[in-house]
Amino acid sequence: MIQVTKPLIGAPISRLDGPRKVTGTATYAFEYQFEDVVYAFPVQSTIAKGRVVAIDATHARTLPGFLGLITHENAPKVAPVGLLGPNNDLAVLQSDRVAYRGQFIAVVVAETLENARRAAELLDIRYEALPPDAELRADRADLVKPQALAAGMATDTEYGDVEAALSSSPVQLDQTYTTPAYHHNALEPHATIAIWKDDSLTLYDSNQGPHAVQHIAATAFNLPPERVRVISAFVGGGFGSKGGNSHFILTIMAAQLIKGRPVKMALTRQQMFAVVGYRTPTIQHLRLGAEQDGQLMAISHEVVEQTGMLHEFAEPTASATRMMYAAPHRRTAHRLARLDVPIPTFMRAPGECPGMFALESAIDELALACGIDPIEFRIKNDPAVDPESGLPFSSRNLVACLRQGAEAFGWQQHPRQPATWREGRWLIGTGVAASTFPVVFFPSTASIRAERADHYRVLIDASDIGTGAWTVLAQIAADALEVPLEQIHLEIGDTNLPMAGLAGGSAGTASWGSAIMDAAQKFRATLYGELGGRLPEGGLEVRGGLERSPYAGQYAMHSFGAQFAEVRVHMDTGEIRVPRMLGVFAAGRIINAKTARSQFLGGMTMGLSMALHEQSVMDPRFGEYVNHDFAEYHIATNADVGAIEIQWIDEVDPYVNPVGAKGIGEIGIVGTAAAIANAVYHATGIRVRDLPLSPDKLL
Ligand code: MOS
Repeated sequence: MIQVTKPLIGAPISRLDGPRKVTGTATYAFEYQFEDVVYAFPVQSTIAKGRVVAIDATHARTLPGFLGLITHENAPKVAPVGLLGPNNDLAVLQSDRVAYRGQFIAVVVAETLENARRAAELLDIRYEALPPDAELRADRADLVKPQALAAGMATDTEYGDVEAALSSSPVQLDQTYTTPAYHHNALEPHATIAIWKDDSLTLYDSNQGPHAVQHIAATAFNLPPERVRVISAFVGGGFGSKGGNSHFILTIMAAQLIKGRPVKMALTRQQMFAVVGYRTPTIQHLRLGAEQDGQLMAISHEVVEQTGMLHEFAEPTASATRMMYAAPHRRTAHRLARLDVPIPTFMRAPGECPGMFALESAIDELALACGIDPIEFRIKNDPAVDPESGLPFSSRNLVACLRQGAEAFGWQQHPRQPATWREGRWLIGTGVAASTFPVVFFPSTASIRAERADHYRVLIDASDIGTGAWTVLAQIAADALEVPLEQIHLEIGDTNLPMAGLAGGSAGTASWGSAIMDAAQKFRATLYGELGGRLPEGGLEVRGGLERSPYAGQYAMHSFGAQFAEVRVHMDTGEIRVPRMLGVFAAGRIINAKTARSQFLGGMTMGLSMALHEQSVMDPRFGEYVNHDFAEYHIATNADVGAIEIQWIDEVDPYVNPVGAKGIGEIGIVGTAAAIANAVYHATGIRVRDLPLSPDKLL
């Protein structure tokens, strides 16, 4: 039964789930059909600070099909829970206190969605309101040092004598860069169906990890995990916002109230602007010092950002600065303003994304001040070992990405003097920035089961949030089992399957793939060893898994990339066009050339959107993000860009993990906005240090 197959890893195989998605037969959480379903609609606070005095439902109760109302007065107790320590934002309806505008303060249940929504509108809610404090400023006297950054690293680092090195450097930069808040808007809004039957809970939920949701739900409601099943076969995007949310706690409460009947809840876009998390605005003070020849001597990166009152989330904004360049004197620091605002959360490349906008803009400025090409400047300061840990890099190909990109983009074709390249009323410029993202690994397990010699079930509680996991995991399994792709039958997105890590941290493919490879190896060893190649009656199931990278702690593991952009800025309107972008990445082994390209391209598109359009605008008088819908929160569209080209380096890294993949989901967004801002400077001579690059800043 040994068959020869050509390696599938690396092949540009179209998504195996593609036909189901485009024909509408892939079932997403909200779409599961039940006869006796009821609907829950959440109620959000219209004040940002204070308490709920009374919720009068007299009018709402008269609506046909009204089934119930849960407020802080009758809500079941919820135990403290969270993925990174207790998160009070998940403990919904546990008190009358309001900590931000849009916070859940009640949930209505009714026979139809329309009546649930109408009943929510008819509630007569009285508040005791206090003036909110919702303005992020760097000069606040009450900034606090966070406990830790969101990914667990230290809040501050310091090496050498930064102040002395800065002041003795012949070339100095001292600038502040700011990024606004960005809100999560995955294509599929957060949605849950909860069924509470016979002391067991079933959730159909849109998330980035069914086992994580199971953990949160079981802990919150004091249930043994095996009594909570979470099913999430198809998920329409996550980007960090679907790792455990308060809306499903509300849905479970409603299901507990209406025992036996399935309860459906889907958030509206406007609701998402308060309750699913967002990227904090940042104020970043960069000070750099260099020798005249471009040798970096000192880097200081001090960040001010915000969190809410219910939970501390500290974006690791300066984390990439710790390992990017080889300056001997370095400092990073993060300070938080605790405001009456919603809780920020992970969003695609949390930390690296806003941080590298600032660092890579500053590097561009400093290179020009030294009179050195910004690519050569970066190459000159590329460290031999990780400056932060002192460990060797498992592989670091930033220089190769920069060189290959420069060649492919035609970098050398135009002099670097700003505002010298013109076509009619359009000013033209090119920009470059570096990109990076750490290699993360989550403990994962998987099973291989075969009842026939031509049919292999691969069982793993992985999540495909739109990345292509359905396809790439089948490719990995087929190669590991040495069978054709058609014989692989993958099952994912269900807590009844073997535990696996989140679809987050760009760690999915590496973590799940390593578990599948281990299970496949053990399966083959059992089948061809003790069983002599013959499947037993009733089939064979073998489990495998991996806790961590075998080389964890021995190497610094990161992806790298180089981002290039060409812009045209209109002299009269300040309008920016981006005719072309190029990203060159070194991200370890690429499992599927087609889905990988889409991942890089998607990240770069988000970076373009960040550069040109995206910003959530806070009105501090009300503690409200005022542009909380797609009419006013602008995102990039096809018309904003010409060609986006993706390239990668064939990088063989034997240390990162058995799959050899470094992760590609997040790096595409990192550095993109800096490359565009640097190109805008080249085009116009105007340095914009405050995103987005709106036309008013260029006139
Ligand atoms: Mo990503 S921010 O780790 O989902």
